[in-house]
Amino acid sequence: MTNVYNNILELIGNTPMVRLNKITQELPSAVFAKLESMNPGHSTKDRIALHIIENAERKGLLKPGSIIVETTSGNTGFSVAMVSIIKGYKCILSVSDKTKPEKIAYLKALGAEVYVCPANVPAEDPRSYYEVAKSIAARTPGSIYINQYFNELNIDAHYQTTGPEIWEQTEGKITHLFACTGTGGTLSGSAKYLKEKNPDVKIIGVDADGSILKGYFDTGKINKDEIKPYQIEGMGKNLIPGALLFDKVDSFVRVNDEMAAYRTREIAIKEAIMGGYTTGAVTQGLLQYAKEYPFKKEDVVVLIFPDHGSRYISKVYSDEWMAQQGFTHNCVHNYEEVFKTQYVK
Ligand SMILES: Cc1ncc(COP(=O)(O)O)c(C=O)c1O
Repeated sequence: MTNVYNNILELIGNTPMVRLNKITQELPSAVFAKLESMNPGHSTKDRIALHIIENAERKGLLKPGSIIVETTSGNTGFSVAMVSIIKGYKCILSVSDKTKPEKIAYLKALGAEVYVCPANVPAEDPRSYYEVAKSIAARTPGSIYINQYFNELNIDAHYQTTGPEIWEQTEGKITHLFACTGTGGTLSGSAKYLKEKNPDVKIIGVDADGSILKGYFDTGKINKDEIKPYQIEGMGKNLIPGALLFDKVDSFVRVNDEMAAYRTREIAIKEAIMGGYTTGAVTQGLLQYAKEYPFKKEDVVVLIFPDHGSRYISKVYSDEWMAQQGFTHNCVHNYEEVFKTQYVK
C-alpha cells in the first residue's frame, strides 16, 4: 500500500510551501507561505506536542494513562490533545478567557479537560493560565508539563523539522524568514537551523501591538506601559518567553489588530488561503517591513502561516465581529481601495 499511514501522528510536518501571487504583487521578490495548517491538528503546534511528548517517553517519564498538562491559547491544546489520544495519555489544559467557546468545545471533543482562566492578569498571578497549569502539574504525580514558553524542546522541534524543511524547500535560497512570535519557538528553532546553514538569512519576528516583545528586542528592557489588551490570539506576550532566542532575530515588526484582521481577510479573498488571524499578522508584518527595507528581485522570502482559518469564523471572518471592533473598512470585496486609501502610508 502507498500513502497509507499507521495513525494521524505520522502526518505531522513536511508541510507544503506555496507562492503568494496577489497579496505581494507589489514586491519584487518571491514570497512563499509555509502552510502549517496542513498539519493534521491544523497548526504548527503539532510539531512541538509530538516532539516534547516523545522526548518524555524516551526519558521514561510517561506511562499509559499519564497526565499531560499545558497552558495554551488553543492551538497547542489541540495538538497535545491529539497526541495524547493516540499515545494513551490524559490531557489537562488551562486556557485564557479570550479563547472562543468553539475552541474550548473542540478541545473537549478531543478528550481534554479544560480550565478557563482570566487573560488580563499578570503572568505571576495564581489565577493566570501559566500558574494554573503549573500548579496542576505540581500536584499531579506522574504528570508532565509541556511548558511551551520555557521549554527548549519547543525550539528544538522547529530546529529539527521546520528549519530543515524550509531550507530544502527553497533549495537553500531563502533570504528572509518572517514568523509571528508567541512562545517564539517557531521563529527561534527555524532561525537557529537556517543561520547555521547561512548566517546571512534575515530573521524577522512579528509582534502584536499590546505586547512587550518588540520593545524588549529594541531596548533590552520590559516596558510594562506597552502591555494592553489585544485581539490577535497566539502571538505577543506580557512576559519574555524562554523559547524566544532574541540573538537569532534581526528585526521585529509590530502589527495592530485592525490591519492584521484586514490582511487575514485579504489573503482569503485574493489567495484563497483560509488562514488564522496570525496569518494576516505575519503578512502585514512583511508589508510593513518591505516599506522600510525594500526587497530585491532575487530575494526569497518565507512566511510561516501558523494555523487554519476555520478556527476564526466567528472572529476575524465574521463581518459582525469586525464591525464590533470598529474595523469598519471591512469591504470584503474592495480591499484594494481600503489599503490604498486608508492604510498604505
Ligand atoms: C495562531 C498562532 N500563531 C502564531 C503562534 C506563534 O508561534 P510560536 O509560539 O512558535 O512563537 C501561535 C502560538 O501559539 C499561534 O497559536
